Amino acid sequence: MNFDLKTLGLAEAAAEKCDLLVLLVADGDGFTPGADVLSTLVAQAIKSADLSTKAGQNLSLYQVPGVAARRVVLLGVGAGDARGVRLGLQAVAAVLRAASIKRAVLCFAGTASNDAVAAAVQGVAQASYVYTTTKPKAEARTLNRVIIGVADTVADDSAMMQAFEYSVAVTVGVELAREWGNRPANYATPTLLADAAKGLTEHPGIQCKVMGPTEVAKLGMGAFMAVAQGTPEPLRFIELRYTGAAKTQAPIVLVGKGITFDSGGISLKPGAEMDEMKFDMCGAASVLGVFRALAELQPTVNVVGLSPACENMPDGRALKPGDVVTSMSGQTIEILNTDAEGRLVLCDALTYAAGLKPAAVVDIATLTGACVIALGGVRSGLFCSDDALAQSLLAAGERAQDLCWRMPLDEDYAEGLKTNFADVANVAGRPAGSITAAKFLQRFVGEFPWAHLDIAGTAWKGAAAKGATGRPVGLLLHYLLQAAAATPAKAKAPVAKKAPARKTSAK
Ligand code: BES
Ligand code: MN
Ligand code: ZN
Repeated sequence: MNFDLKTLGLAEAAAEKCDLLVLLVADGDGFTPGADVLSTLVAQAIKSADLSTKAGQNLSLYQVPGVAARRVVLLGVGAGDARGVRLGLQAVAAVLRAASIKRAVLCFAGTASNDAVAAAVQGVAQASYVYTTTKPKAEARTLNRVIIGVADTVADDSAMMQAFEYSVAVTVGVELAREWGNRPANYATPTLLADAAKGLTEHPGIQCKVMGPTEVAKLGMGAFMAVAQGTPEPLRFIELRYTGAAKTQAPIVLVGKGITFDSGGISLKPGAEMDEMKFDMCGAASVLGVFRALAELQPTVNVVGLSPACENMPDGRALKPGDVVTSMSGQTIEILNTDAEGRLVLCDALTYAAGLKPAAVVDIATLTGACVIALGGVRSGLFCSDDALAQSLLAAGERAQDLCWRMPLDEDYAEGLKTNFADVANVAGRPAGSITAAKFLQRFVGEFPWAHLDIAGTAWKGAAAKGATGRPVGLLLHYLLQAAAATPAKAKAPVAKKAPARKTSAK
């Protein structure tokens, strides 16, 4: 999909030839009847109570005299902030997905904040996304050109252009993450996931290295290997690298849980909704999405993405409750529940990450059902040993409208992980399940700031809207861009600050 940002007054918007014009109307936007055709329309619709500015309220019109667009939707966006725009566009998702709509113009009737412009880009991309990989007869997305129109009185032009460019990059990354998240496990094996990562090396600045069972064994990743031993499907350890700053700059390392299917293993899960465990690689998918977005923006930052990828299955060679395995760190782990496999693949990846001398490490994992109970689908769980890093991630989440919430890491929570048979057990009791999982991971964290994002509640939606969300690509990207802003450009090839252009396109 192609996005453009354009200065568009309401009179100009009426003259834009397109299949669909969505006019975003916020509380307090004033309209003078007679000023132009769209102002007159909105003023009358509001006056006669056929339109309210409540987010999501809308009025559909067809072939309006004096308007070049075939269809017009007047859409309430509440306060006109990012949340209002997001909710508004969600309400008209069906129109944005309609087969007859190829070219759309979204125009802010009043003034638009940078965050609102970003929310408009992401909202329209999200609403019009269609999964087709294993449903080829589905009506694929027809919308291919979107113009975001903002009034001429934009306060800070270059900041808005930057917000716009960021949001376009986020949509590209989010869609890649959704695509891989949605694919069923037989279309998203560890090998196929690794191939997808290798595919990203076609973009400048991106390299990829993939390890298989032999190399992983050589490194002594006993915990990761233990999870993969219950299936003939070979494991993959994916290492993506984006070099946007000088080589001497320590990288930020992202670690994504890549369980391509989580049956629970011998501690088998119940059958209901087990299909949703194809989404258990959404952490790894978010890493792919972030790298795709980095390729788009080329920021001055170094990033490494690590994804331990395998299935968790219960065949005759599978890990058994009571088994003790030795992790790459040397710590022994008693497996009390084979369904607590995410922390096993992540702990070895965290040990590996320490070898990269990272500036910070952020792991992203669909780790615990307990986190879904605690925070639901609104905020991801944030566990962090470093206050500054926690603040950056919380702020990035706010910016990206991809929220998280900080959870505690008191040492007392680690009590339940004690066992007579190994250095640590892989589960504690049911209370505070998302925190005890984080405490387990923390044992494998080296001398670097570390954060863990439990995305079990936010990475996908169930029921009728079943599908991957692409979260937390937005949060992670904004965090990395913030870090890039604080990093000097490469010595040899200084990255020139882009002049504030009026238009840009992606893809
Ligand atoms: N992938 C699951 C976590 C999960 C469950 C995410 C449901 C989203 C929805 C993870 O591997 C798991 O099975 N965790 C167990 C841990 C338990 C055995 C301590 C859980 O949450 O039940
Ligand atoms: Mn599990
Ligand atoms: Zn899992």
